[in-house]
Amino acid sequence: MSHEILKALGLSDVNSGTYLGNGEWSTDTSAGLIEVTNPSTGEVIAKVHGTSAGDYETIVKRAREAFETWRTTPAPVRGEAVRLCGEALRKYKDELGSLVSLENGKIKPEGDGEVQEMIDIADFAVGQSRMMYGLTMHSERPGHRMYEQWHPLGVVGIISAFNFPVAVWAWNAMLAAACGDICIWKPSPKTPLTAIATMKICNEALKAGGFPEIFYLFNDGDNALAKQFVDDKRIDLVSFTGSSAVGRQVGVRVAERMGRSLLELGGNNAMIVDETADLKLAIPAIAFGAVGTAGQRCTSTRRLIVHESIAEEVTEKLVKAYKQIESKIGDPTDPATLMGPLIDPASVERFTKALDTAKAAGGTVATGGEVLDRKGNFVTPAIVTGLPGDAEIVRTETFAPILYVIPYKDLDDAIALQNSVPQGLSSAFFTLNMRNAERFLSATGSDCGIANVNIGTSGAEIGGAFGGEKETGGGRESGSDAWRAYMRRQTNTINWSSELPLAQGIKFEI
Ligand code: UN1
Repeated sequence: MSHEILKALGLSDVNSGTYLGNGEWSTDTSAGLIEVTNPSTGEVIAKVHGTSAGDYETIVKRAREAFETWRTTPAPVRGEAVRLCGEALRKYKDELGSLVSLENGKIKPEGDGEVQEMIDIADFAVGQSRMMYGLTMHSERPGHRMYEQWHPLGVVGIISAFNFPVAVWAWNAMLAAACGDICIWKPSPKTPLTAIATMKICNEALKAGGFPEIFYLFNDGDNALAKQFVDDKRIDLVSFTGSSAVGRQVGVRVAERMGRSLLELGGNNAMIVDETADLKLAIPAIAFGAVGTAGQRCTSTRRLIVHESIAEEVTEKLVKAYKQIESKIGDPTDPATLMGPLIDPASVERFTKALDTAKAAGGTVATGGEVLDRKGNFVTPAIVTGLPGDAEIVRTETFAPILYVIPYKDLDDAIALQNSVPQGLSSAFFTLNMRNAERFLSATGSDCGIANVNIGTSGAEIGGAFGGEKETGGGRESGSDAWRAYMRRQTNTINWSSELPLAQGIKFEI
């Protein structure tokens, strides 16, 4: 089966991981091979050649050259290029969704959903290409006009993570392309195949439409080139998705050279469930939030802060739901499966270690927490009770399906607890009490970039700005006005009078 999917997307057993532009995939094999493992079986799906230092130079040089012309292409014409990419992705949605599922281990509907996000952001960026509005201001000086323009920024470096191996690239690349930028992508070494397939689909569509090369790709097995990339002054914006620990280093290094960074880092997302909550909605939302994508979304629900009067009932219901999910763990490409494997054995180890730490701190594993005795990186999702919200392990993001249940008495305490972690990505509140809901959404409520009422923490739509505060890095991608991150703003003041009045009423007579 895996061979058919690879073939349908133009991939083979050994692939070049380097797109050099000009229709060329590098034939340089000097930089070692990345083995891509199927997380469901541990078997190698295919291999990818890493990128050599020489090829990296060629890519950056060509990207800079490409920017010279792309920035002069009218934005709505750039939008047309993005439209063609979206159309091509529509055609390959099934195949690419299957490859995401195969390579990453997320279930097929989630793999397809990820490709849908790419299509959606392409549509969004097409519209945006005619709406890159700047403001006009009233000058304080007579005979003067003031306005602002948004110009293309330059070359955008995109470093993406394994958990959303293609959607996050598209959030960045579709908008950046419409904004007049050139993109260089470095995907996760765990998921290079989906990146290569995506690059082929988009670049062929661009070529057929007569457009220049705007998307480049390199692969790096050991992070040596990635470091060079982050430090490279020719990369105007580095958009990084990954852990807070690595993101902090990226942020510091890019700041050191006065570049721009857009950081999309860890989350330790909580859901608060108050005593009025409709549990018919809350229980499936918690289960999807905590177990979906095997707990490997940055928006996964990791903490459940539940009113003490219903804590027991909610835990019981969840344990029941988890038992049902347990019988549907397995091959992510099987339509009956609800949860696939973790990405690699190291993730399984982090999962069991976190549970050991939780138990040592006094926690009880109410359900799950087992490593399945079969091929692949399968575990049963865990619910942990009995730990206080300030326990170190609860404050830590473990990228796995572990949910900590913490009862609360007073809503102010619940909100304070939710906000007490270092991360600030997503949050949710289940309630039917309007005052409580508004309190949660107010300036003194959730401190996260995303705050939802009566829906879960994960599964954000592309139309909103996606990102979070504190150690989540502060970046915003995808919808709303996130496009501005990919452009530079210029303020223009034009004097059409025959005088030269100075601002602030200053007199300077000569
Ligand atoms: C991520 O986990 O890196 O909100 C992104 C969601 C998805 C995106 C998650 N749309 O769950």
